Amino acid sequence: MINASDILTAAQLLKNGGLVAFPTETVYGLGADATSDAAVARIFAAKQRPQFNPLISHLSDPDSAFRLGQFSQNAEKLAAAFWPGPLTLVVERRKDCPVSLLCSAGLSSIALRVPNHPVALELLRAVGRPLAAPSANLSGRISPTTAEHVRRSLGSAVDIILDGGPCCVGVESTVVQCHDGGVVLLRTGGITREQIEAVLVRKLESAAATPSIFHSPGQLESHYAPKATLRLNALSPKPGEVYLGFGEHDHGFWSLSKTGNLQEATSNLFMMLHAIDDASLQAIAVAPIPMNGLGEAINDRLRRAAAPRPAI
Ligand code: TXA
Ligand code: MG
Repeated sequence: MINASDILTAAQLLKNGGLVAFPTETVYGLGADATSDAAVARIFAAKQRPQFNPLISHLSDPDSAFRLGQFSQNAEKLAAAFWPGPLTLVVERRKDCPVSLLCSAGLSSIALRVPNHPVALELLRAVGRPLAAPSANLSGRISPTTAEHVRRSLGSAVDIILDGGPCCVGVESTVVQCHDGGVVLLRTGGITREQIEAVLVRKLESAAATPSIFHSPGQLESHYAPKATLRLNALSPKPGEVYLGFGEHDHGFWSLSKTGNLQEATSNLFMMLHAIDDASLQAIAVAPIPMNGLGEAINDRLRRAAAPRPAI
């Protein structure tokens, strides 16, 4: 359990340019003082993350976010509806925005999020500065939903890991970019397309159908890669494959949700991919997952996990 003195120690480390892994409701984040070039550079080094991939700045409250970026009416509506929570808003930086330009990776925009986790919020309040925090894993690998996942992926590259137990959402935040005319979905995640469209009372634009300025540099085709290979939309396993089902099935005990619940499947997804990797299983066949609601984020992660991997 984390106590007040752990938070103070972590906050002091962050103010001195350290790296602190902390729990959020989505996945564990690898945090650093977003206003310090040197601290942000340490994140890229620890994760072996390409410099062109920008970082999300985390804030303890919406007002702190409004001071960093220019919010359109749509952005304000989304912040009011979903913060604190698993939604990241990409907006234009304010001229006086103190966040390191490294976080924006050469773009004029900035990604902002108020997470909904007591430890993350306490830490942000104690630091009193925005925290840049990507998922706390080596770039391209499965995101961490427990402190143990962070320890195994990043180990000594992190100064402290705050252990807040397993993350309840289990996939990353949804990322949308708000521009003058509308809102573009850059990454599916913990808030569904349907939830956002209900608040905006309009359809989200797709990144593929908009100019390249609205593409998210982090949406690399191969990502979330377990060591095992993945075969998608499988109705049954082939010899040598472990079957990751959805609902009840007769092919072993792995199921993202025995009752076919998408929320449960989302929170189990990275957890089970990690567990299958830990068991040194070589090949995974995954059941078809419906595309509605959180199913869109699950299918996105599975598609990237199954994509051909670049030679390292
Ligand atoms: O749930 C989450 O979002 C977690 C927790 C720790 O908050 N963080 C996370 O960060 O997933 P990361 O770095 O793994 O993913 C951030 C995504 C990347 O796809 C990145 O390209 C995109 O956000 N992004 C960040 N800034 C952007 C910007 N200015 N324009 C477009 N995309 C941006
Ligand atoms: Mg990530």
